[in-house]
Amino acid sequence: MNKRILVANWKSNPKSLREAVQMARAIDRASMFRRTVGVVVAPPFPFLAGVGRVLERAHLGAQDSFWAGGAYTGAVSPDELKSLGVQYVILGHSERRIHAGETDDMIGKKILAVLEAGMSPILCVGERERAGRDIPAIVGEQIMAALRGIPPAYAPRVIIVYEPVWAISTMPGAVADTPESAFRARAYIRRIINDLWGRALSESLRVLYGGSVTPENIGSFMRDSEMDGALVGGASLNPTLFGEIIRIAASVKRP
Ligand code: PGA
Repeated sequence: MNKRILVANWKSNPKSLREAVQMARAIDRASMFRRTVGVVVAPPFPFLAGVGRVLERAHLGAQDSFWAGGAYTGAVSPDELKSLGVQYVILGHSERRIHAGETDDMIGKKILAVLEAGMSPILCVGERERAGRDIPAIVGEQIMAALRGIPPAYAPRVIIVYEPVWAISTMPGAVADTPESAFRARAYIRRIINDLWGRALSESLRVLYGGSVTPENIGSFMRDSEMDGALVGGASLNPTLFGEIIRIAASVKRP
């Protein structure tokens, strides 16, 4: 059985390398449940090398990657990330889709490039508006568009995060999704992967939840939604809170 994964998505925080290294040290100390939970710390690009040097138990993640290296001013390539010890790369986060104009086509190219470089992509999908009972078709479309061109041999390394955009803590009026709706989203995502890559790969796929995760709700996302981990933004900037989230996620038994 795959381990649960908790990803600290620091976004464009903190303001200095010194603070980033302090936060990383504290999170690393809290990552002592290695048998049941894998912890990934994803700092901004300029802090990757410094944070990577102090992580002993947690893994290093990046928040984006370009799909190639060479004549692309301002871009960071998969090989460059890999050379810093990055093992996981968040791709298709809604903030990149919204503020950096990322399209499904770009995200698909990035996923393939990250896989070819030997890292694990963490693909974020989610609808912008809160819908009724049904998980909106957009989630399926985002997954198909991003993963259609990926050879099934790479599939075991792909991780998907269901992150409804309206639930992200910095969105006005944000509230976490309900465990029931997240449970349906996980089942729906697995059905799509079943159609794309078949049953065995859909069953071993890790689906994480993201959006206003806190120590108060992480337990029910693990237990009631049967999520395989979480992508945590705001609460991951506070090592005490994130340490609590790690401890609770590690203590909930696998269904
Ligand atoms: P949040 O952010 O935990 O602050 O809601 C999650 C994310 O955007 O990755």
